[in-house]
Amino acid sequence: MRTFLAPCMRQVHELMGGWMRAAGMEVRVDAVGNLRGVLSGAETGAPRLLIGSHLDTVADAGAYDGVLGVVMGVALCEEIAARRQVSREQMPFAIEVVGFSEEEGVRFAKPFLGSLALIGEMDEAILACADANGTSVVQAIRDFGLEPSQLAAVALDPSTFAYVEFHIEQGPVLEAESAALAVVDAVAGQTRATLAFTGHANHAGTTPMGRLRHDALAAAAAWITEVERYASGIAGLVATVGKLDIPSAAGNVIPGRVVATLDVRHAQDAVRAAGVDHLVAFAETAAASRGVTLSSTITLDQPAVPMDSTLTRALSDCVTGISGGPARVLTSGAGHDAMILARRVPSAMVFLRSPGGLSHHPDETVLVEDVEAALSCGLEFLSRLRDDKAMLDPLVHNARTYGQHRLAEARHA
Ligand code: HGY
Ligand code: MN
Ligand code: MN
Repeated sequence: MRTFLAPCMRQVHELMGGWMRAAGMEVRVDAVGNLRGVLSGAETGAPRLLIGSHLDTVADAGAYDGVLGVVMGVALCEEIAARRQVSREQMPFAIEVVGFSEEEGVRFAKPFLGSLALIGEMDEAILACADANGTSVVQAIRDFGLEPSQLAAVALDPSTFAYVEFHIEQGPVLEAESAALAVVDAVAGQTRATLAFTGHANHAGTTPMGRLRHDALAAAAAWITEVERYASGIAGLVATVGKLDIPSAAGNVIPGRVVATLDVRHAQDAVRAAGVDHLVAFAETAAASRGVTLSSTITLDQPAVPMDSTLTRALSDCVTGISGGPARVLTSGAGHDAMILARRVPSAMVFLRSPGGLSHHPDETVLVEDVEAALSCGLEFLSRLRDDKAMLDPLVHNARTYGQHRLAEARHA
């Protein structure tokens, strides 16, 4: 498992940084542990296309969630650099490949640390977040040998005009439809919460059933059943209790305290919000009827994010050029760094088929032919960007305007 600034991240930086250097890219690891490689464009200061995904993983993960998107970016740069060797052809834009240091939110229960820092939203509250050992984000940065005072230098280059992320679908649709690739119209919103049920530990053998018991686990169990029932009844809604902690649990003790996680997702924010409200209210009732108290904390309230239609249409045309048929358009149930980058630059995603519809699992995999198709799609997209000034110029102008706007904001801060 690769979590935020875990020691094993150094090996990833060394290995992938080596591939980037071999492709002629300038490589650095920024102050939050994002791996950054830049393949220069025709001129110094050329506008920049950003391609990337995350390097961290969940526990018992597969080998492709996140890291595949970074490798795809490096492979595209290798191909562009190789063509440059032969034809001396230069791209009118630079390509930056980024491997984000933290997207899953495993170590600090706070996802997207790498991409939030890139868009200038890693604030003091995030830096103070502590992991299970009490180590803060800022201390983890120092422990890895990085310098928190350099956080400002993590910021996106103001000339960055777009972000593209290649990622496995992590679901069953493309396999069911025998399709290799899809484009993403939106990334579903997600709420992550922690619910603590506090009852009263007591002897399992001497405490009669009924009002003298304050069984925190019985309350949580009744609630978990409702989570599944409620979400199953609403199209497109998913709700999961992924973690259940029962401190000092023992077979002959009535559980006095249970801490559960809740993960709720939907493409429409209003449906997601209504679901969270209903499930927290149900937890309160299930607790109160057993003389158990409930406290709930929302740890993430991430709205649904539409992907950029211009970029998505161009990628869709590239997919069609490869597959021969119309590109499948999917809404992503999984969260991605693209939903953070989209706050700053036009962003788009390409999905690759997930055999078995499996992810966040050691058997997660991809098909070689699908990776080849994704690379062809990426190269076709880069060629279109190079040749289609009607597409590139507005993106570059928007970035320049945005860059000036951001600089003006910084001056008045
Ligand atoms: O949980 C997610 O949506 C993603 O895998 N980070
Ligand atoms: Mn993931
Ligand atoms: Mn991912």
